[in-house]
Amino acid sequence: MNSSCNFVIFGGTGDLATRKLLPSLYYLHCDGYLPGHVKIYGVGRSDYNDDSYRNFIADKLKQCESLGNCKETSWQEFSARLFYQKVDGTKTEDFSQLGKRLALKEDNELVCYLSTSPNLFGDICRHLNEAGLVKNNTRVVLEKPVGHCLKSSRIINDAVAKIFVEENIFRIDHYLGKETVQNILALRFANSMFEPLWNSREIDHVQISISETVGVEGRWSYYNDSGAFRDMVQSHILQLLALVAMEPPRHFEPDAVRNEKVKVLRSLRPISGAQVLRNSIRGQYSAGSIDGQPVPGYLEAEGNVANPQTETFVALRAHIDNWRWAGVPFYLRSGKRMSSRNSEIYIQFKEVPYSIFSKSNSSTLRPNKLIIQLQPEEAITLTIMNKVPGLAQKGIEMREVDLNLNLSAEVRKETRRMAYQRLLMDIIHNDTTLFVRRDEVEAAWTWADPILEAWQNSAETPKPYAAGSWGPSAAYALTEKHGHSWHDEYARKRKD
Ligand code: BG6
Repeated sequence: MNSSCNFVIFGGTGDLATRKLLPSLYYLHCDGYLPGHVKIYGVGRSDYNDDSYRNFIADKLKQCESLGNCKETSWQEFSARLFYQKVDGTKTEDFSQLGKRLALKEDNELVCYLSTSPNLFGDICRHLNEAGLVKNNTRVVLEKPVGHCLKSSRIINDAVAKIFVEENIFRIDHYLGKETVQNILALRFANSMFEPLWNSREIDHVQISISETVGVEGRWSYYNDSGAFRDMVQSHILQLLALVAMEPPRHFEPDAVRNEKVKVLRSLRPISGAQVLRNSIRGQYSAGSIDGQPVPGYLEAEGNVANPQTETFVALRAHIDNWRWAGVPFYLRSGKRMSSRNSEIYIQFKEVPYSIFSKSNSSTLRPNKLIIQLQPEEAITLTIMNKVPGLAQKGIEMREVDLNLNLSAEVRKETRRMAYQRLLMDIIHNDTTLFVRRDEVEAAWTWADPILEAWQNSAETPKPYAAGSWGPSAAYALTEKHGHSWHDEYARKRKD
């Protein structure tokens, strides 16, 4: 075991650090997973000292829901491992001060988590190097988004690559830390029954949908430029798509997994020009209500800060051009201020080729579906057709039933409270399997850029949808014109 691992969070007073990173580190500590040799340094431009920073973080932790089973003494122990150093990311001398403070010995490890604007990534890496803080075992963690387009992502990646080798760069996509997301790999590659069905002969179409009830949460300057497509589709949704569609990797180890993911991203059929407008819908929420509470529209934000061109909803029809997936549409969708918080991967199989049941009853036969729900519950459901019990004499009456594997009940004892916990542990243990490699980011932007460009050149603005709905009506037409329905619409009809 190394004598110490210094985990330095740049942007240590920011939203991500205080809402996700420090609570995750704290939970790891409470649950006994944070190795004893890890010390945490919050770094930022504000004037805190160790004590005032600890008080600041203690207040933030009180706002977290899952502190329940953290022991009274846990905070005392954790805070003794927590420090603060004032650093302005643009000032070389501040990095020398940081170096003095860390006083690294030869066998000490350093992790630099850059929870800052991506524009600062290159400068921070350069300053770290100039201050003599970058050694062979120094790791850097980059929060998304890495860039705004292919060109800007290359500039950032080049700047970071001047200082760090790829094996020491951890690009975070926190969706890869979610329990059910990793379970996609277990489901596909630890069970033999799915693989023969996992292709265009058996699968009709796939939907990957992340809907949120929250809005922009004060992050106007970021979101106005980013919009739902860059914020959610280019990163989280494409990562989910890659895991669903990839070939089995040789081993569960970093490059084997990432080699297969990048092949999928590179096989995404390019969509450009007029095809973009035919295969995508952008929306922006207007006033509505969420959980019975009135919610103002995106453009009604205080201070007129919202950009009328920014999409808060996006739906697309994508294709993967390879042998396994030829002809299978992948519908991708994400939106803010939607009817409910729900993230899921929905896989619809083909219908039976021929029904042996009488016409009146066979009309009720429905294709099987596999639904991998990530949020709010972690669950896997397989729908099958089943005979309605009873003594009816005229043939067999059918109904669709769910075979349900509810993971939260099964794994409650071992469950993590935040996706970041898994990823922070992997950074500490130097395992890059669940992190995004440079070529993946670039393949994702290569597909995304022409879509963004077509929207930019189009006179169309995002279509309005009421907050609390499932997005603009045109998003329904996107699936329906190809004979498909979004799963929520299907589930609603099935209930009615
Ligand atoms: C972040 C996006 O990456 O993911 C946010 O920037 C979004 O806009 C969030 O709200 C969603 O994450 P989760 O884990 O709550 O689904």
